[in-house]
Amino acid sequence: MKRNERKERAYTVQRLRRKISNMLWEFRLGVTTRGIVDMLSSPDAYYYSTMPYSAIMPILEYLELTRDDVFIDIGCGKGRVICCAARHDVREVVGVDKSKEMCVIAAANAARLRHRLSPVTVVNCTAQEFDYSEGTAFFLFNPFDEAITRVVLAQIERTLSVKPRALRFAYANPSHESVFGENRWLEKYDFWDVHDRNRSIYVPVSFWRSKPK
Ligand SMILES: C[S@@+](CC[C@H](N)C(=O)[O-])C[C@H]1O[C@@H](n2cnc3c(N)ncnc32)[C@H](O)[C@@H]1O
Repeated sequence: MKRNERKERAYTVQRLRRKISNMLWEFRLGVTTRGIVDMLSSPDAYYYSTMPYSAIMPILEYLELTRDDVFIDIGCGKGRVICCAARHDVREVVGVDKSKEMCVIAAANAARLRHRLSPVTVVNCTAQEFDYSEGTAFFLFNPFDEAITRVVLAQIERTLSVKPRALRFAYANPSHESVFGENRWLEKYDFWDVHDRNRSIYVPVSFWRSKPK
């Protein structure tokens, strides 16, 4: 077998494994979050897609969520990440999405979720409008463009003057992480590369936190 064929076959096997693992997780949790939804008709939304459970779990572990945390998935889609986060013991899990359709599905998934330890709220509004003053741990899976990322980070920073607190972010597929870098109140504390053989993450992930005052 040629090298390319071997590579292709390995890739197919990997995809199949991922698919089966995701199906098993969905069955176990009682939720339905798979599929890709095209929302390109909206000028600033990309599309709904999600990450494998096997990639989400270690990210959430790495955020070291505690009972004091309010975890927010900015652009929560069908709610896979909020459902995984709600299996941690935190103060609250919040999903924000501009798509009503996605919010209805996310809320239904959160209501059905088995092994839930924390309350979940799904809010249908844009990330630019949302009030982040309770948030402490944030997740983004490349939800929007550079301009919106800039607005959202400014909104979050503004809440710090009213309510000083330590924040951390996991930014998956960080296409606009230069915007995080522009924000001097933030520091990058880790980066997970897809090529890291010790982790089966499917997109790169960068981790940011607020600098201590
Ligand atoms: C790539 S999906 C990620 C879904 C989810 N975070 C996950 O990882 O399973 C991006 C989501 O962001 C939402 N979105 C895009 N632009 C948004 C905005 N300006 N405000 C709120 N949500 C937005 C889309 O509707 C979509 O559901």
